[in-house]
Amino acid sequence: MKHLIDPMDLSVEEIDHILNLADDIIANRPKYAEVCKGKKLATLFFEPSTRTRLSFEAAMLELGGSVIGFSSANSSSAAKGESVADTIRTIECYADIAAMRHPKEGAPLVASLNARIPVINAGDGGHNHPTQTLTDLLTIRRAKGRLNNLTIGLCGDLKFGRTVHSLIKAMSRYEGINFILIAPTELQVPDYIKEDVFKKKNIPYREVETMEEVMPELDILYMTRVQRERFFNEADYIRLKDSFILDPEKLKAAKEDMAILHPLPRVNEISVKVDSDPRAWYFRQVENGKFVRMALMMVLLGLDQKA
Ligand code: CP
Repeated sequence: MKHLIDPMDLSVEEIDHILNLADDIIANRPKYAEVCKGKKLATLFFEPSTRTRLSFEAAMLELGGSVIGFSSANSSSAAKGESVADTIRTIECYADIAAMRHPKEGAPLVASLNARIPVINAGDGGHNHPTQTLTDLLTIRRAKGRLNNLTIGLCGDLKFGRTVHSLIKAMSRYEGINFILIAPTELQVPDYIKEDVFKKKNIPYREVETMEEVMPELDILYMTRVQRERFFNEADYIRLKDSFILDPEKLKAAKEDMAILHPLPRVNEISVKVDSDPRAWYFRQVENGKFVRMALMMVLLGLDQKA
């Protein structure tokens, strides 16, 4: 049995297999309508979510399975003090696979160490969000036709943005990747990522403070919101929240085939005027999230050869 807690839990070959399966699901949806018949997904969300929880649920329903779960800590016995370990030992009596989001880094790992069913990390604090990474990889591959030889600009809250941390780890395994980190100094990528990923693997990266100075170089622009819920004080959030706003004027300098991604939710960082630009991939990215989670659950349940 396998869990997905960190994007590095998957080899490059396993990622390729999941992305290929997702592509096949997109092309042949009826073929997959009953693959998970009789299987149950539990969504254990101790933190708010729109896309991740609902895409997991839609994915299992589209595979012919069913769904149970809760969408906030307050509506579970966590509110009475139940531990993550006891929660998962209860859930495994009812479900075949679980997706967990938790504000504490490491909570899904603790769950996986106590579980007899596959556990998927659906986002743990400011740490990792591996299924968003699979979504991002599928979107990049569909937009650019490759996952290598790309200059990727990561913009916004690179300190607290768990999707950024997971994406850097995953993309660092492909050839010819060059990262440009666009953030105010206070919101730059944590040192442990610079040491463990960029420096250890000799991956080129640059830190800059404006998107304008690097826009013409980018193949991918990955925008993120400033993560209000992870700030220690409101004044810092207010000072930094509008550091970067992508608008049509700034896009004039970008390549014609640059792809703009955003894990969403968006606050102010992409003007709605950008939504109609063919380079805006973020709503296609949302849709890809469902298909890649269908593929992932099939793999973790050992049903990927069944369709
Ligand atoms: N991208 C993402 O994790 O969105 P939600 O917080 O809505 O799940």
